[in-house]
Amino acid sequence: MRSPSFSSWPPPLLLLLLLHPWQVCAQAPSLATSSGVSGAPDCPEACACAPGGQANCSALALSAVPAGLSRRVRALLLDHNRLGSLPPGAFADADALLRLDLRENELRWVHARAFWGLGALQRLDLSANRLEALAPGTFGPLRALRTLSLAGNRLARLEPAALGALPLLRALSLQDNALSALSPGLLAGLPALDALRLRGNPWTCDCALRPLCTWLRRHPRPASEAETPVCVSPGRLARSPLAAFPDAAFRHCARPLSPRDLAMIYLLGPASFLASLVACLALGSALTACRARRRRRQRTAAHRPPRRSLDLDPGGPASPANAGSPAEAGLGRPLEVLFQ
Ligand SMILES: *[C@@H]1O[C@H](CO)[C@@H](O)[C@H](O)[C@H]1NC(C)=O
Repeated sequence: MRSPSFSSWPPPLLLLLLLHPWQVCAQAPSLATSSGVSGAPDCPEACACAPGGQANCSALALSAVPAGLSRRVRALLLDHNRLGSLPPGAFADADALLRLDLRENELRWVHARAFWGLGALQRLDLSANRLEALAPGTFGPLRALRTLSLAGNRLARLEPAALGALPLLRALSLQDNALSALSPGLLAGLPALDALRLRGNPWTCDCALRPLCTWLRRHPRPASEAETPVCVSPGRLARSPLAAFPDAAFRHCARPLSPRDLAMIYLLGPASFLASLVACLALGSALTACRARRRRRQRTAAHRPPRRSLDLDPGGPASPANAGSPAEAGLGRPLEVLFQ
């Protein structure tokens, strides 16, 4: 994309570029890098790489993640570019990355597996993009993440599943989005969270905001007034700081069922129905089997003595007890036995 210096360019091309001042300006900052080594092995061709493992690909009008990333890259600066989306495994070749800067791009879409392989990443900056939603599991692979910025996007919802469990995350920036509430489970997956930036969102101060208000009260910060998140609706609470609501303010709120409770209810209902059905069937068939067995035993017990008496009886088939239905015979024989 870029030649090492102006001098090696053929004069007509230089002339053409001079006629297009914007393009020259766009190229100028990258040409000005003095310490960086451009196009070195293990360095993406368009970027300037410093010995510490920093690949500086800032402000190069890139529309895709540059090729040529490797394990040697520890910090990848891709800010102020034109990335519109991140495909699956976009950084899989740079799996030793500690810092990834994607600030000020045009990101609308991040694939759920875009950050696969980045198990060592500690700092991720996605601020000032155009994200409206994040797929479940997007940040799941980032088990070492400490700082995450999603500020200055268009997020109206942030599901707990998108963040997942980030055990080491200490700072989360969500300011200047379109959030009106935070899902109750979101903060539960972030045990190490200490700094949460929330201002610049249209917070609706109702019962759904209870977990957030509780969290804010437990993590007081000496924040300036501009940093303090405030309610936007309902009107009577507009501009009330979120952290100012005592727990008593939520006394009228019924405790909502957590997704886990709901899942239990949905699972236990049909499961217990099936279990009782199976139990009934088992019990019924056991009873039937028992009764049949008892009847069979009774019948054999009833059959045996007369047979013995028949054997003793020389008359055999001529005996009147032999005639008639089995029921009659069954009734008749014990009497016979008794009276003999
Ligand atoms: C990265 O490169 C840009 C443009 O060359 C420069 O302005 C910026 O200071 C560099 N960033 C770092 C951290 O070196």
